[in-house]
Amino acid sequence: GAAKPVIVAIDGPSGTGKSSTSKAVAAQLGLSYLDTGAQYRAITWWMVTNGIDIEDPTAIAAVAGKPEIISGTDPANPTINVDGTDVAGPIRTQEVTSKVSAVSAVPEVRARITELQRSLATSAEYGIVVEGRDIGTTVLPDADLKIFLTASPEARAARRSGELKGADVNATREALIKRDAADSSRKTSPLAKAGDAVEVDTTALTLQQVIECVVTLVEEKRAAK
Ligand code: DC
Repeated sequence: GAAKPVIVAIDGPSGTGKSSTSKAVAAQLGLSYLDTGAQYRAITWWMVTNGIDIEDPTAIAAVAGKPEIISGTDPANPTINVDGTDVAGPIRTQEVTSKVSAVSAVPEVRARITELQRSLATSAEYGIVVEGRDIGTTVLPDADLKIFLTASPEARAARRSGELKGADVNATREALIKRDAADSSRKTSPLAKAGDAVEVDTTALTLQQVIECVVTLVEEKRAAK
């Protein structure tokens, strides 16, 4: 019969190839795609732009419901808008990157963004690949397939500094380790591998190999539905 929508959760720390893998898998299989990190970056950008003190969780919580955040879920053209402004560029600045862990640790922020994520996931006609930190554990615990991507800190820093063009590898590694530690140790839905997630260590794999591995796992799940 008609294929049922398939829900795929891809979690892991930064620099494991999560975004590139998730986008490519979604495109190959005709699924929607959601970058949940971009949503946390977008709300962080809004807080910074509106002069909210990011050291003050109470101040952040008080306005967590204010910005309208809209994610476009086409893997060929993922978009992110806040109150009608395209923020795809501004959310990748070092300022936002250094502040996103503090903002995303606030429970009211997580509740708000999690609700957006669930509504996008359940409305995707053919299914969706959702990438983040807590998708398999908290956002979509009933996902059809959960993947947890890992890689050595060295491999992750090298990939990230490649993306940031010219950024210093050592500084990138330190910043990345600090952000992962903050994301893993926060109280509300930390970065964690779900008990039923398939762990894929990407350290020695090419992006193409990781994509093929995940595509195969999704196709197996789809066939079994
Ligand atoms: O994937 P990324 O580097 O763009 O994510 C930015 C930050 O957002 C990351 O440091 C932690 C937070 N995040 C989160 O808390 N939960 C998610 N599901 C995704 C991202």
